[in-house]
Amino acid sequence: MATIKFKEASPYTKPKPVPTPEDYLYSKYENDCALKSDGKRRDPVLGVAIFGLGRAGTIHLSNLVNNPRVKLLYVVDDTESKWKDLKEYWRLDDIPVIGSKQADRVYNDPKVDAVVVCSPTYTHEGIVTRALGAKKAVFCEKPIAEQPASTAKCYEAARRASRPLFCAFNRRFDPSYRDVYERLRRGEIGQAHIMRLTARDSPLPTIDYLRTSGGIFHDCMVHDIDLLTWMLGEYPIRVSVHASAMIPEIKAIDDFDTVAAVFHFPSGTVGMVDLSRNSCYGYDQRIEVFGPKGLIDATNEQPIHCVTAQLGQQGQRKPPIWYSFASRFRNAYAREMEHFLDVALGKAQPLVQEKEIMAVSKIADACEKSARTGQSQELKWAADELPNHR
Ligand SMILES: NC(=O)c1ccc[n+]([C@@H]2O[C@H](COP(=O)([O-])OP(=O)(O)OC[C@H]3O[C@@H](n4cnc5c(N)ncnc54)[C@H](O)[C@@H]3O)[C@@H](O)[C@H]2O)c1
Repeated sequence: MATIKFKEASPYTKPKPVPTPEDYLYSKYENDCALKSDGKRRDPVLGVAIFGLGRAGTIHLSNLVNNPRVKLLYVVDDTESKWKDLKEYWRLDDIPVIGSKQADRVYNDPKVDAVVVCSPTYTHEGIVTRALGAKKAVFCEKPIAEQPASTAKCYEAARRASRPLFCAFNRRFDPSYRDVYERLRRGEIGQAHIMRLTARDSPLPTIDYLRTSGGIFHDCMVHDIDLLTWMLGEYPIRVSVHASAMIPEIKAIDDFDTVAAVFHFPSGTVGMVDLSRNSCYGYDQRIEVFGPKGLIDATNEQPIHCVTAQLGQQGQRKPPIWYSFASRFRNAYAREMEHFLDVALGKAQPLVQEKEIMAVSKIADACEKSARTGQSQELKWAADELPNHR
């Protein structure tokens, strides 16, 4: 009876709590229940072709085939041995599956409005410039190219064609990371003093993939450099990087699998990134930002996050974290594709801008140089080289 004095009136007599903004899936569900369009249902349907059906392409294809704003028109992949299975699995009955030698069919087809590029990085420049030259909107997996000069050529092609080129930095579209971004912008921790990212890959990519990946800085660390610079809204003036290859096969291809990097920002903020290509306990992705008013961190998500067990005397056990990027960032991939469709339809400007991509590529170059020379690298920025961040 000790708490009876706190008894309240029936909840039916009180205002009903509204869904919280954090429940980002509920508003879509509410719209679906009420048959209420968020404006997208009446959009024209875009003709889309996709290049490259490997690890990344499979994620994007699964989002495209179920999208009411998309009519998939071509699938282009150079592994002919998987065409038949691809067609059967994805029910691509009347959709041509072709090799890159026949890609002119895509470029010359006026029904193709947009091209999604998920082939290996070394093929991006050719596909992106041809597609833009044919006036298609382009979604390109990161990095657009290994070298800043090639990336610049792709954006020049976009300007010439007056068509958008969207670089798929999917992590910006992750709901948790977006929340960290908004909290920083609201000044919850005051001026950021330290921002730290941990990115440990799982599973270990194949050596065949790594051989043509462009190396850990352009293939992997670009994600973290993008998050650092996008969240902080500034660009480092010095980087200092230590890297090693613990795995002999990775050493043999002159790449690294283990990296620690420090970024010095003009405001005084210090950024830190640690990377590994091989995390045995799952896809370890964490962000922490520390300032005079506190700390914001986005720790690892677990697929089954609400179950714990205590068995025998082993202490408390929790299920493991997500295994890899396809599951950890599933929401981010879906949201970035929706954003690209908005961009291709002329309803939105790309949230990932050319100057940001060029800057990330320049910083990745400096990081690699620092790792290879053992020297800190200074970065100089021309007045018009950097985007205006809010
Ligand atoms: N944003 C992310 O989270 C993420 C994750 C993985 C990979 N990626 C990027 O996606 C790209 C592909 O990486 P992946 O891991 O999917 O590679 P992958 O090796 O798994 O798949 C590449 C596919 O492209 C096909 N291909 C090769 N040359 C082609 C061409 N000229 N035209 C069409 N298809 C061609 C291959 O047959 C293969 O099926 C890379 O740029 C990589 O950096 C991004």
